[in-house]
Amino acid sequence: METIFSGIQPSGTPTIGNYIGAMKQFIALQEEYNCYYCIVDEHAITVPQDRLKLRKQTKSLAALYLAVGLNPEKSTIFIQSEVPAHTQAAWIVQCNIPLGELERMTQFKDKSSKSGRTSVSAGLLTYPPLMVADIILYQSNLVPVGEDQKQHLELTRDFVDRFNNKYSNGEPILTLPEVKIPKFGGRIMSLQEPTKKMSKSDTNQKGFISMLDEPTVIRKKLKSAVTDSSGVIEYDVENKPGISNLLTIFSSFSGESIENLVARYAGAGYGTFKDELADAVIAVMEPIQERYNDLLTSDELTTILDNGALAANTVANKTLRKMKNAVGLGRK
Ligand code: AMP
Ligand code: TRP
Repeated sequence: METIFSGIQPSGTPTIGNYIGAMKQFIALQEEYNCYYCIVDEHAITVPQDRLKLRKQTKSLAALYLAVGLNPEKSTIFIQSEVPAHTQAAWIVQCNIPLGELERMTQFKDKSSKSGRTSVSAGLLTYPPLMVADIILYQSNLVPVGEDQKQHLELTRDFVDRFNNKYSNGEPILTLPEVKIPKFGGRIMSLQEPTKKMSKSDTNQKGFISMLDEPTVIRKKLKSAVTDSSGVIEYDVENKPGISNLLTIFSSFSGESIENLVARYAGAGYGTFKDELADAVIAVMEPIQERYNDLLTSDELTTILDNGALAANTVANKTLRKMKNAVGLGRK
């Protein structure tokens, strides 16, 4: 059985972008792969976080993983900081990646240009090596992510090639992973600025729908989503980014193809379309939210995360040992 690894940062409540781009894939894949789904709290602290909020969000994300349908019998669910091998392997990775490659990462350039390169944390620059470490420690074959992570996966593949070439004599030490981006929904856009990615850390609350937004809030945010003045429902990302984004969201939640939706809503107004889109989103999110509320107050969550950390530590330490041996760290 091949192995999958993916992670989400507990830097806020996940949005429907995280659900469509990442979580939906996670659930489908756990039937056919040996899956590791991580809550990457060490990635979250590359930008300032409130300690109590971070703890709360970490637990909340774990409950959401389960509420959307991740099954701990099939997948290993764990918290990154509870597996020390991640930061240890990340050090070896950092020492084998040219600085120039990290400085070229678009996510680093975006985030550091906003608040100034000299004031952002060094962790923001070394964030991709930690992500590389996450992936390679489990000898992952496939990494399901949204489109924004594509460049980090290319960096991972380059690293694996370089590391194997340099340090292995015969059998490759690390597995070369493939990226898996959904054909539709790999980049859900902001409801307010549809040329910008929907993000849980957007300062404009109306730009994103959080997975824990109440049904009335979901409807309100969708009703106030930015569209255009033509009044025609068609899929044209370039000229109609707002309505195209809503069509993608609709299709992802209802399972109906975009062509069908366009045909069905021909002649209908944006108001009707948005209302029925809200129905489709709420129909999926409401039962998830109910399961989430039950899980958050149960002891089940603690046991699942304890067992997850145990299983992850065993696998990760095995690869870490190989990496340390390869580069000559320690005595054996
Ligand atoms: P993050 O919230 O940055 O930890 O992202 C977790 C996962 O969700 C990654 O695989 C991202 O690529 C994916 N993701 C985040 N935002 C979006 C979005 N707006 N559309 C699609 N996928 C997304
Ligand atoms: N960097 C990813 C994001 O912000 C999260 C992440 C960390 C991840 N480690 C990973 C995703 C390993 C896939 C595999 O979305």
